[in-house]
Amino acid sequence: MQRAAAVTLVLTSVLLCSLRAAALQDLRHPPNRIAVVGAGIGGTSAAYFLRQKFGKHVQIDIFEKGEVGGRLSTVEIEGNQYEAGGSVIHPLNLHMKTFVKDLGLNPLSLNDNLVGIYNGDEFVFQESEWFLINVIKMLWHYGLNFLRMHMWVEDILDKFMRIYRYQTFDYSFSSTGSLLHAMGGNDFTTKINVTIDEAMQTAGFSERFINDIVVAAMRVNYGQGVKVNGFVGAVSLAGTSSGLWAVEGGNKAVCSGLLYASKAQMISGTVTSVQEKVRPTKSGETVRLYEINYETDKGPALDMYDIVIFATPLSRETGNVKFIGFDPPINTYTRPYYQMVATFVHGRLNPSFFGCPKPCQLSVSEILTTDEPKLFFHSIGPLSPVKPVTESGTSKASDMRVWKVFSPEPLKDEELRLLFESYDTVVVKKWLAYPIYVTPEKLPPIILHRAIYYLNSIEWAASAMEMSAISAKNIALLSYHRWFGKDGQIDQEDLVERLKSEL
Ligand SMILES: Cc1cc2nc3c(=O)[nH]c(=O)nc-3n(C[C@H](O)[C@H](O)[C@H](O)COP(=O)(O)OP(=O)(O)OC[C@H]3O[C@@H](n4cnc5c(N)ncnc54)[C@H](O)[C@@H]3O)c2cc1C
Ligand SMILES: *[C@@H]1O[C@H](CO)[C@@H](O)[C@H](O)[C@H]1NC(C)=O
Repeated sequence: MQRAAAVTLVLTSVLLCSLRAAALQDLRHPPNRIAVVGAGIGGTSAAYFLRQKFGKHVQIDIFEKGEVGGRLSTVEIEGNQYEAGGSVIHPLNLHMKTFVKDLGLNPLSLNDNLVGIYNGDEFVFQESEWFLINVIKMLWHYGLNFLRMHMWVEDILDKFMRIYRYQTFDYSFSSTGSLLHAMGGNDFTTKINVTIDEAMQTAGFSERFINDIVVAAMRVNYGQGVKVNGFVGAVSLAGTSSGLWAVEGGNKAVCSGLLYASKAQMISGTVTSVQEKVRPTKSGETVRLYEINYETDKGPALDMYDIVIFATPLSRETGNVKFIGFDPPINTYTRPYYQMVATFVHGRLNPSFFGCPKPCQLSVSEILTTDEPKLFFHSIGPLSPVKPVTESGTSKASDMRVWKVFSPEPLKDEELRLLFESYDTVVVKKWLAYPIYVTPEKLPPIILHRAIYYLNSIEWAASAMEMSAISAKNIALLSYHRWFGKDGQIDQEDLVERLKSEL
C-alpha cells in the first residue's frame, strides 16, 4: 500500500516535472513581435540582425518620428546632395562594409584634401602635396609623435577588431562595459575614465603634439577638445587614417536598404511611452508584454510587444519616452548632447582671413583648428557630392564650391563674410550630434528591463555609425540568447583564448 502511494507520488512528481518543463518550453516559444524605436543606422541594422537571428516568422515593427537615416542625412545645394550628418567611414568598419556589399550599394572613396591646422593667428601645421616634405615637417615639429600615434591607434584597432570574431561566433554582452572589456581588457575600460589628453600623456606623447594635432582631430570629429574620454579619442584619431570612404548616393541609403531587407514594418510615428502589461493566453497561462504608445498623423495608437529595442538616444531633447510603472524606475538618462551646427556654403573661401593676403592662394583646403577661445568655428572643409559628378574645374581653395563649416553656434552673417570672400547658397543644419563626453564616465545600461534594450548605450563610449551597428548586432544576439536561456553565449571571459583554436 505504502509502496503504491510512493510510486504514485513519484509518478505525480515526474508528471509535474514534465508539465513544468512544458511550461518552460512554452516560455521559450519564439517571440511574436519585436519593436525597434528609431530608424537610424542603429535601428535599421538592429532590424536586419534581428531578422537573421529570430527567423522569418517574427513580426518586427520599426518606429520613426522623422526620416529614415536619423543622423545620416543629406542636404541639397545647387542641385547636388551632400552628407549633412555622419559622413566618413573607416576602412576597417566591417559591418558598414558588409552592409554596402550585401545591399548592392557602392563605396565612394573620399578625396584626400590637404590639411592645415589654424590657431586663430596662423597655421601651426600645413600638409604638403609632397610626401617627403610632410615627413620632414612632421619630424621637425613633432619628432616621432606621428609615427607613434599611428602605432598606438593600430594597437587599439587590433583589439577593436576582435568584436567581429566574437559576433561571428554568436557571443554577446550584457553591458557596454563588458563588451569593451572583451575587446581590449582593462586597457579599454580604463580609457573610458581618463581623458584622451591623460591617456596620451601617459603613453608619452608630447604636449605640443596633443595641443596641435590631437585637439584638431577631436574638434572636427566630436566638436569637443581633448577632455573627451580616451576611447572616443582613439576612435577619433583612427579617423585620420587613409582609405576613408562613404556610400555612393548618401550613407542613409544603407538605412533604407537594411529596412527593406529586414522585412520590418515601418511605422511613422513618435513613441511616447512604454509600460509592462500581463495578458492571459489561449492556454490559460499569462504572458508579460510591453505596451508601446505612440502618436501618428491619425492620432494616438498602441501595440503590444515581446521585446523592445530603443535605437535612439533617450535624453530629453532627443528621445523623450516615458517609462511608466517600472520598479525600480527606468532612468531616462537626461545627460545632454553636444550641439554641432553644420553650415553648408556655396562660395569662395577668404584666404586673407587665414593670414594669407591677396593674391595669395591657400595650399590647404581642409582647415582644422586648435582649442582657441576666439575661434567661432571648429573646421572648414570642401565637400564632394554623394554622387560623383564629372569635375568641370579644379578644386583649389580659391574656387567657388561647396564648403562645410562646423561650429558650436549658428554662424552670424559677419562671421560668414569673414570666412568667405563671396557666397550665395547657405544651408544650416543644427544637430544634437553626440554625447557631451566627460570623465569618469558611467555608461548607461544595455538592458533597461527584462526585454527592453538600449542600443545607444554604446554612444557614451564612442558615437559613430559602426558603433551603432556593433551595438545592433550585440543586442540582436543578446535578446535572442536571453529569450532562449542560452547563458553560455553571454558575457563569456577569455574569448580571445577560447576562439584561438576555432577556424
Ligand atoms: C554632424 C555629424 C557628423 C558625424 N560624423 C560622423 C562620421 O563622419 N562618421 C561616423 O561614423 N559617425 C559620425 N557621426 C555620428 C553618427 O552619425 C551617429 O553615431 C549615428 O548616425 C547614430 O545612429 P543611430 O541610429 O544610433 O541614431 P540616430 O541616427 O540618431 O537615429 C535615431 C532615430 O530615432 C528617431 N527617434 C527618436 N526618438 C523617437 C521616438 N520617440 N519615436 C520614434 N522615433 C524616434 C529619430 O528621429 C532618429 O531617426 C556624426 C554625427 C553628426 C551629427
Ligand atoms: C569608471 O568610473 C565610473 C564612475 O565613477 C565607475 O562606476 C566605473 O567603475 C569606472 N570604471 C573603471 C573601469 O574604472
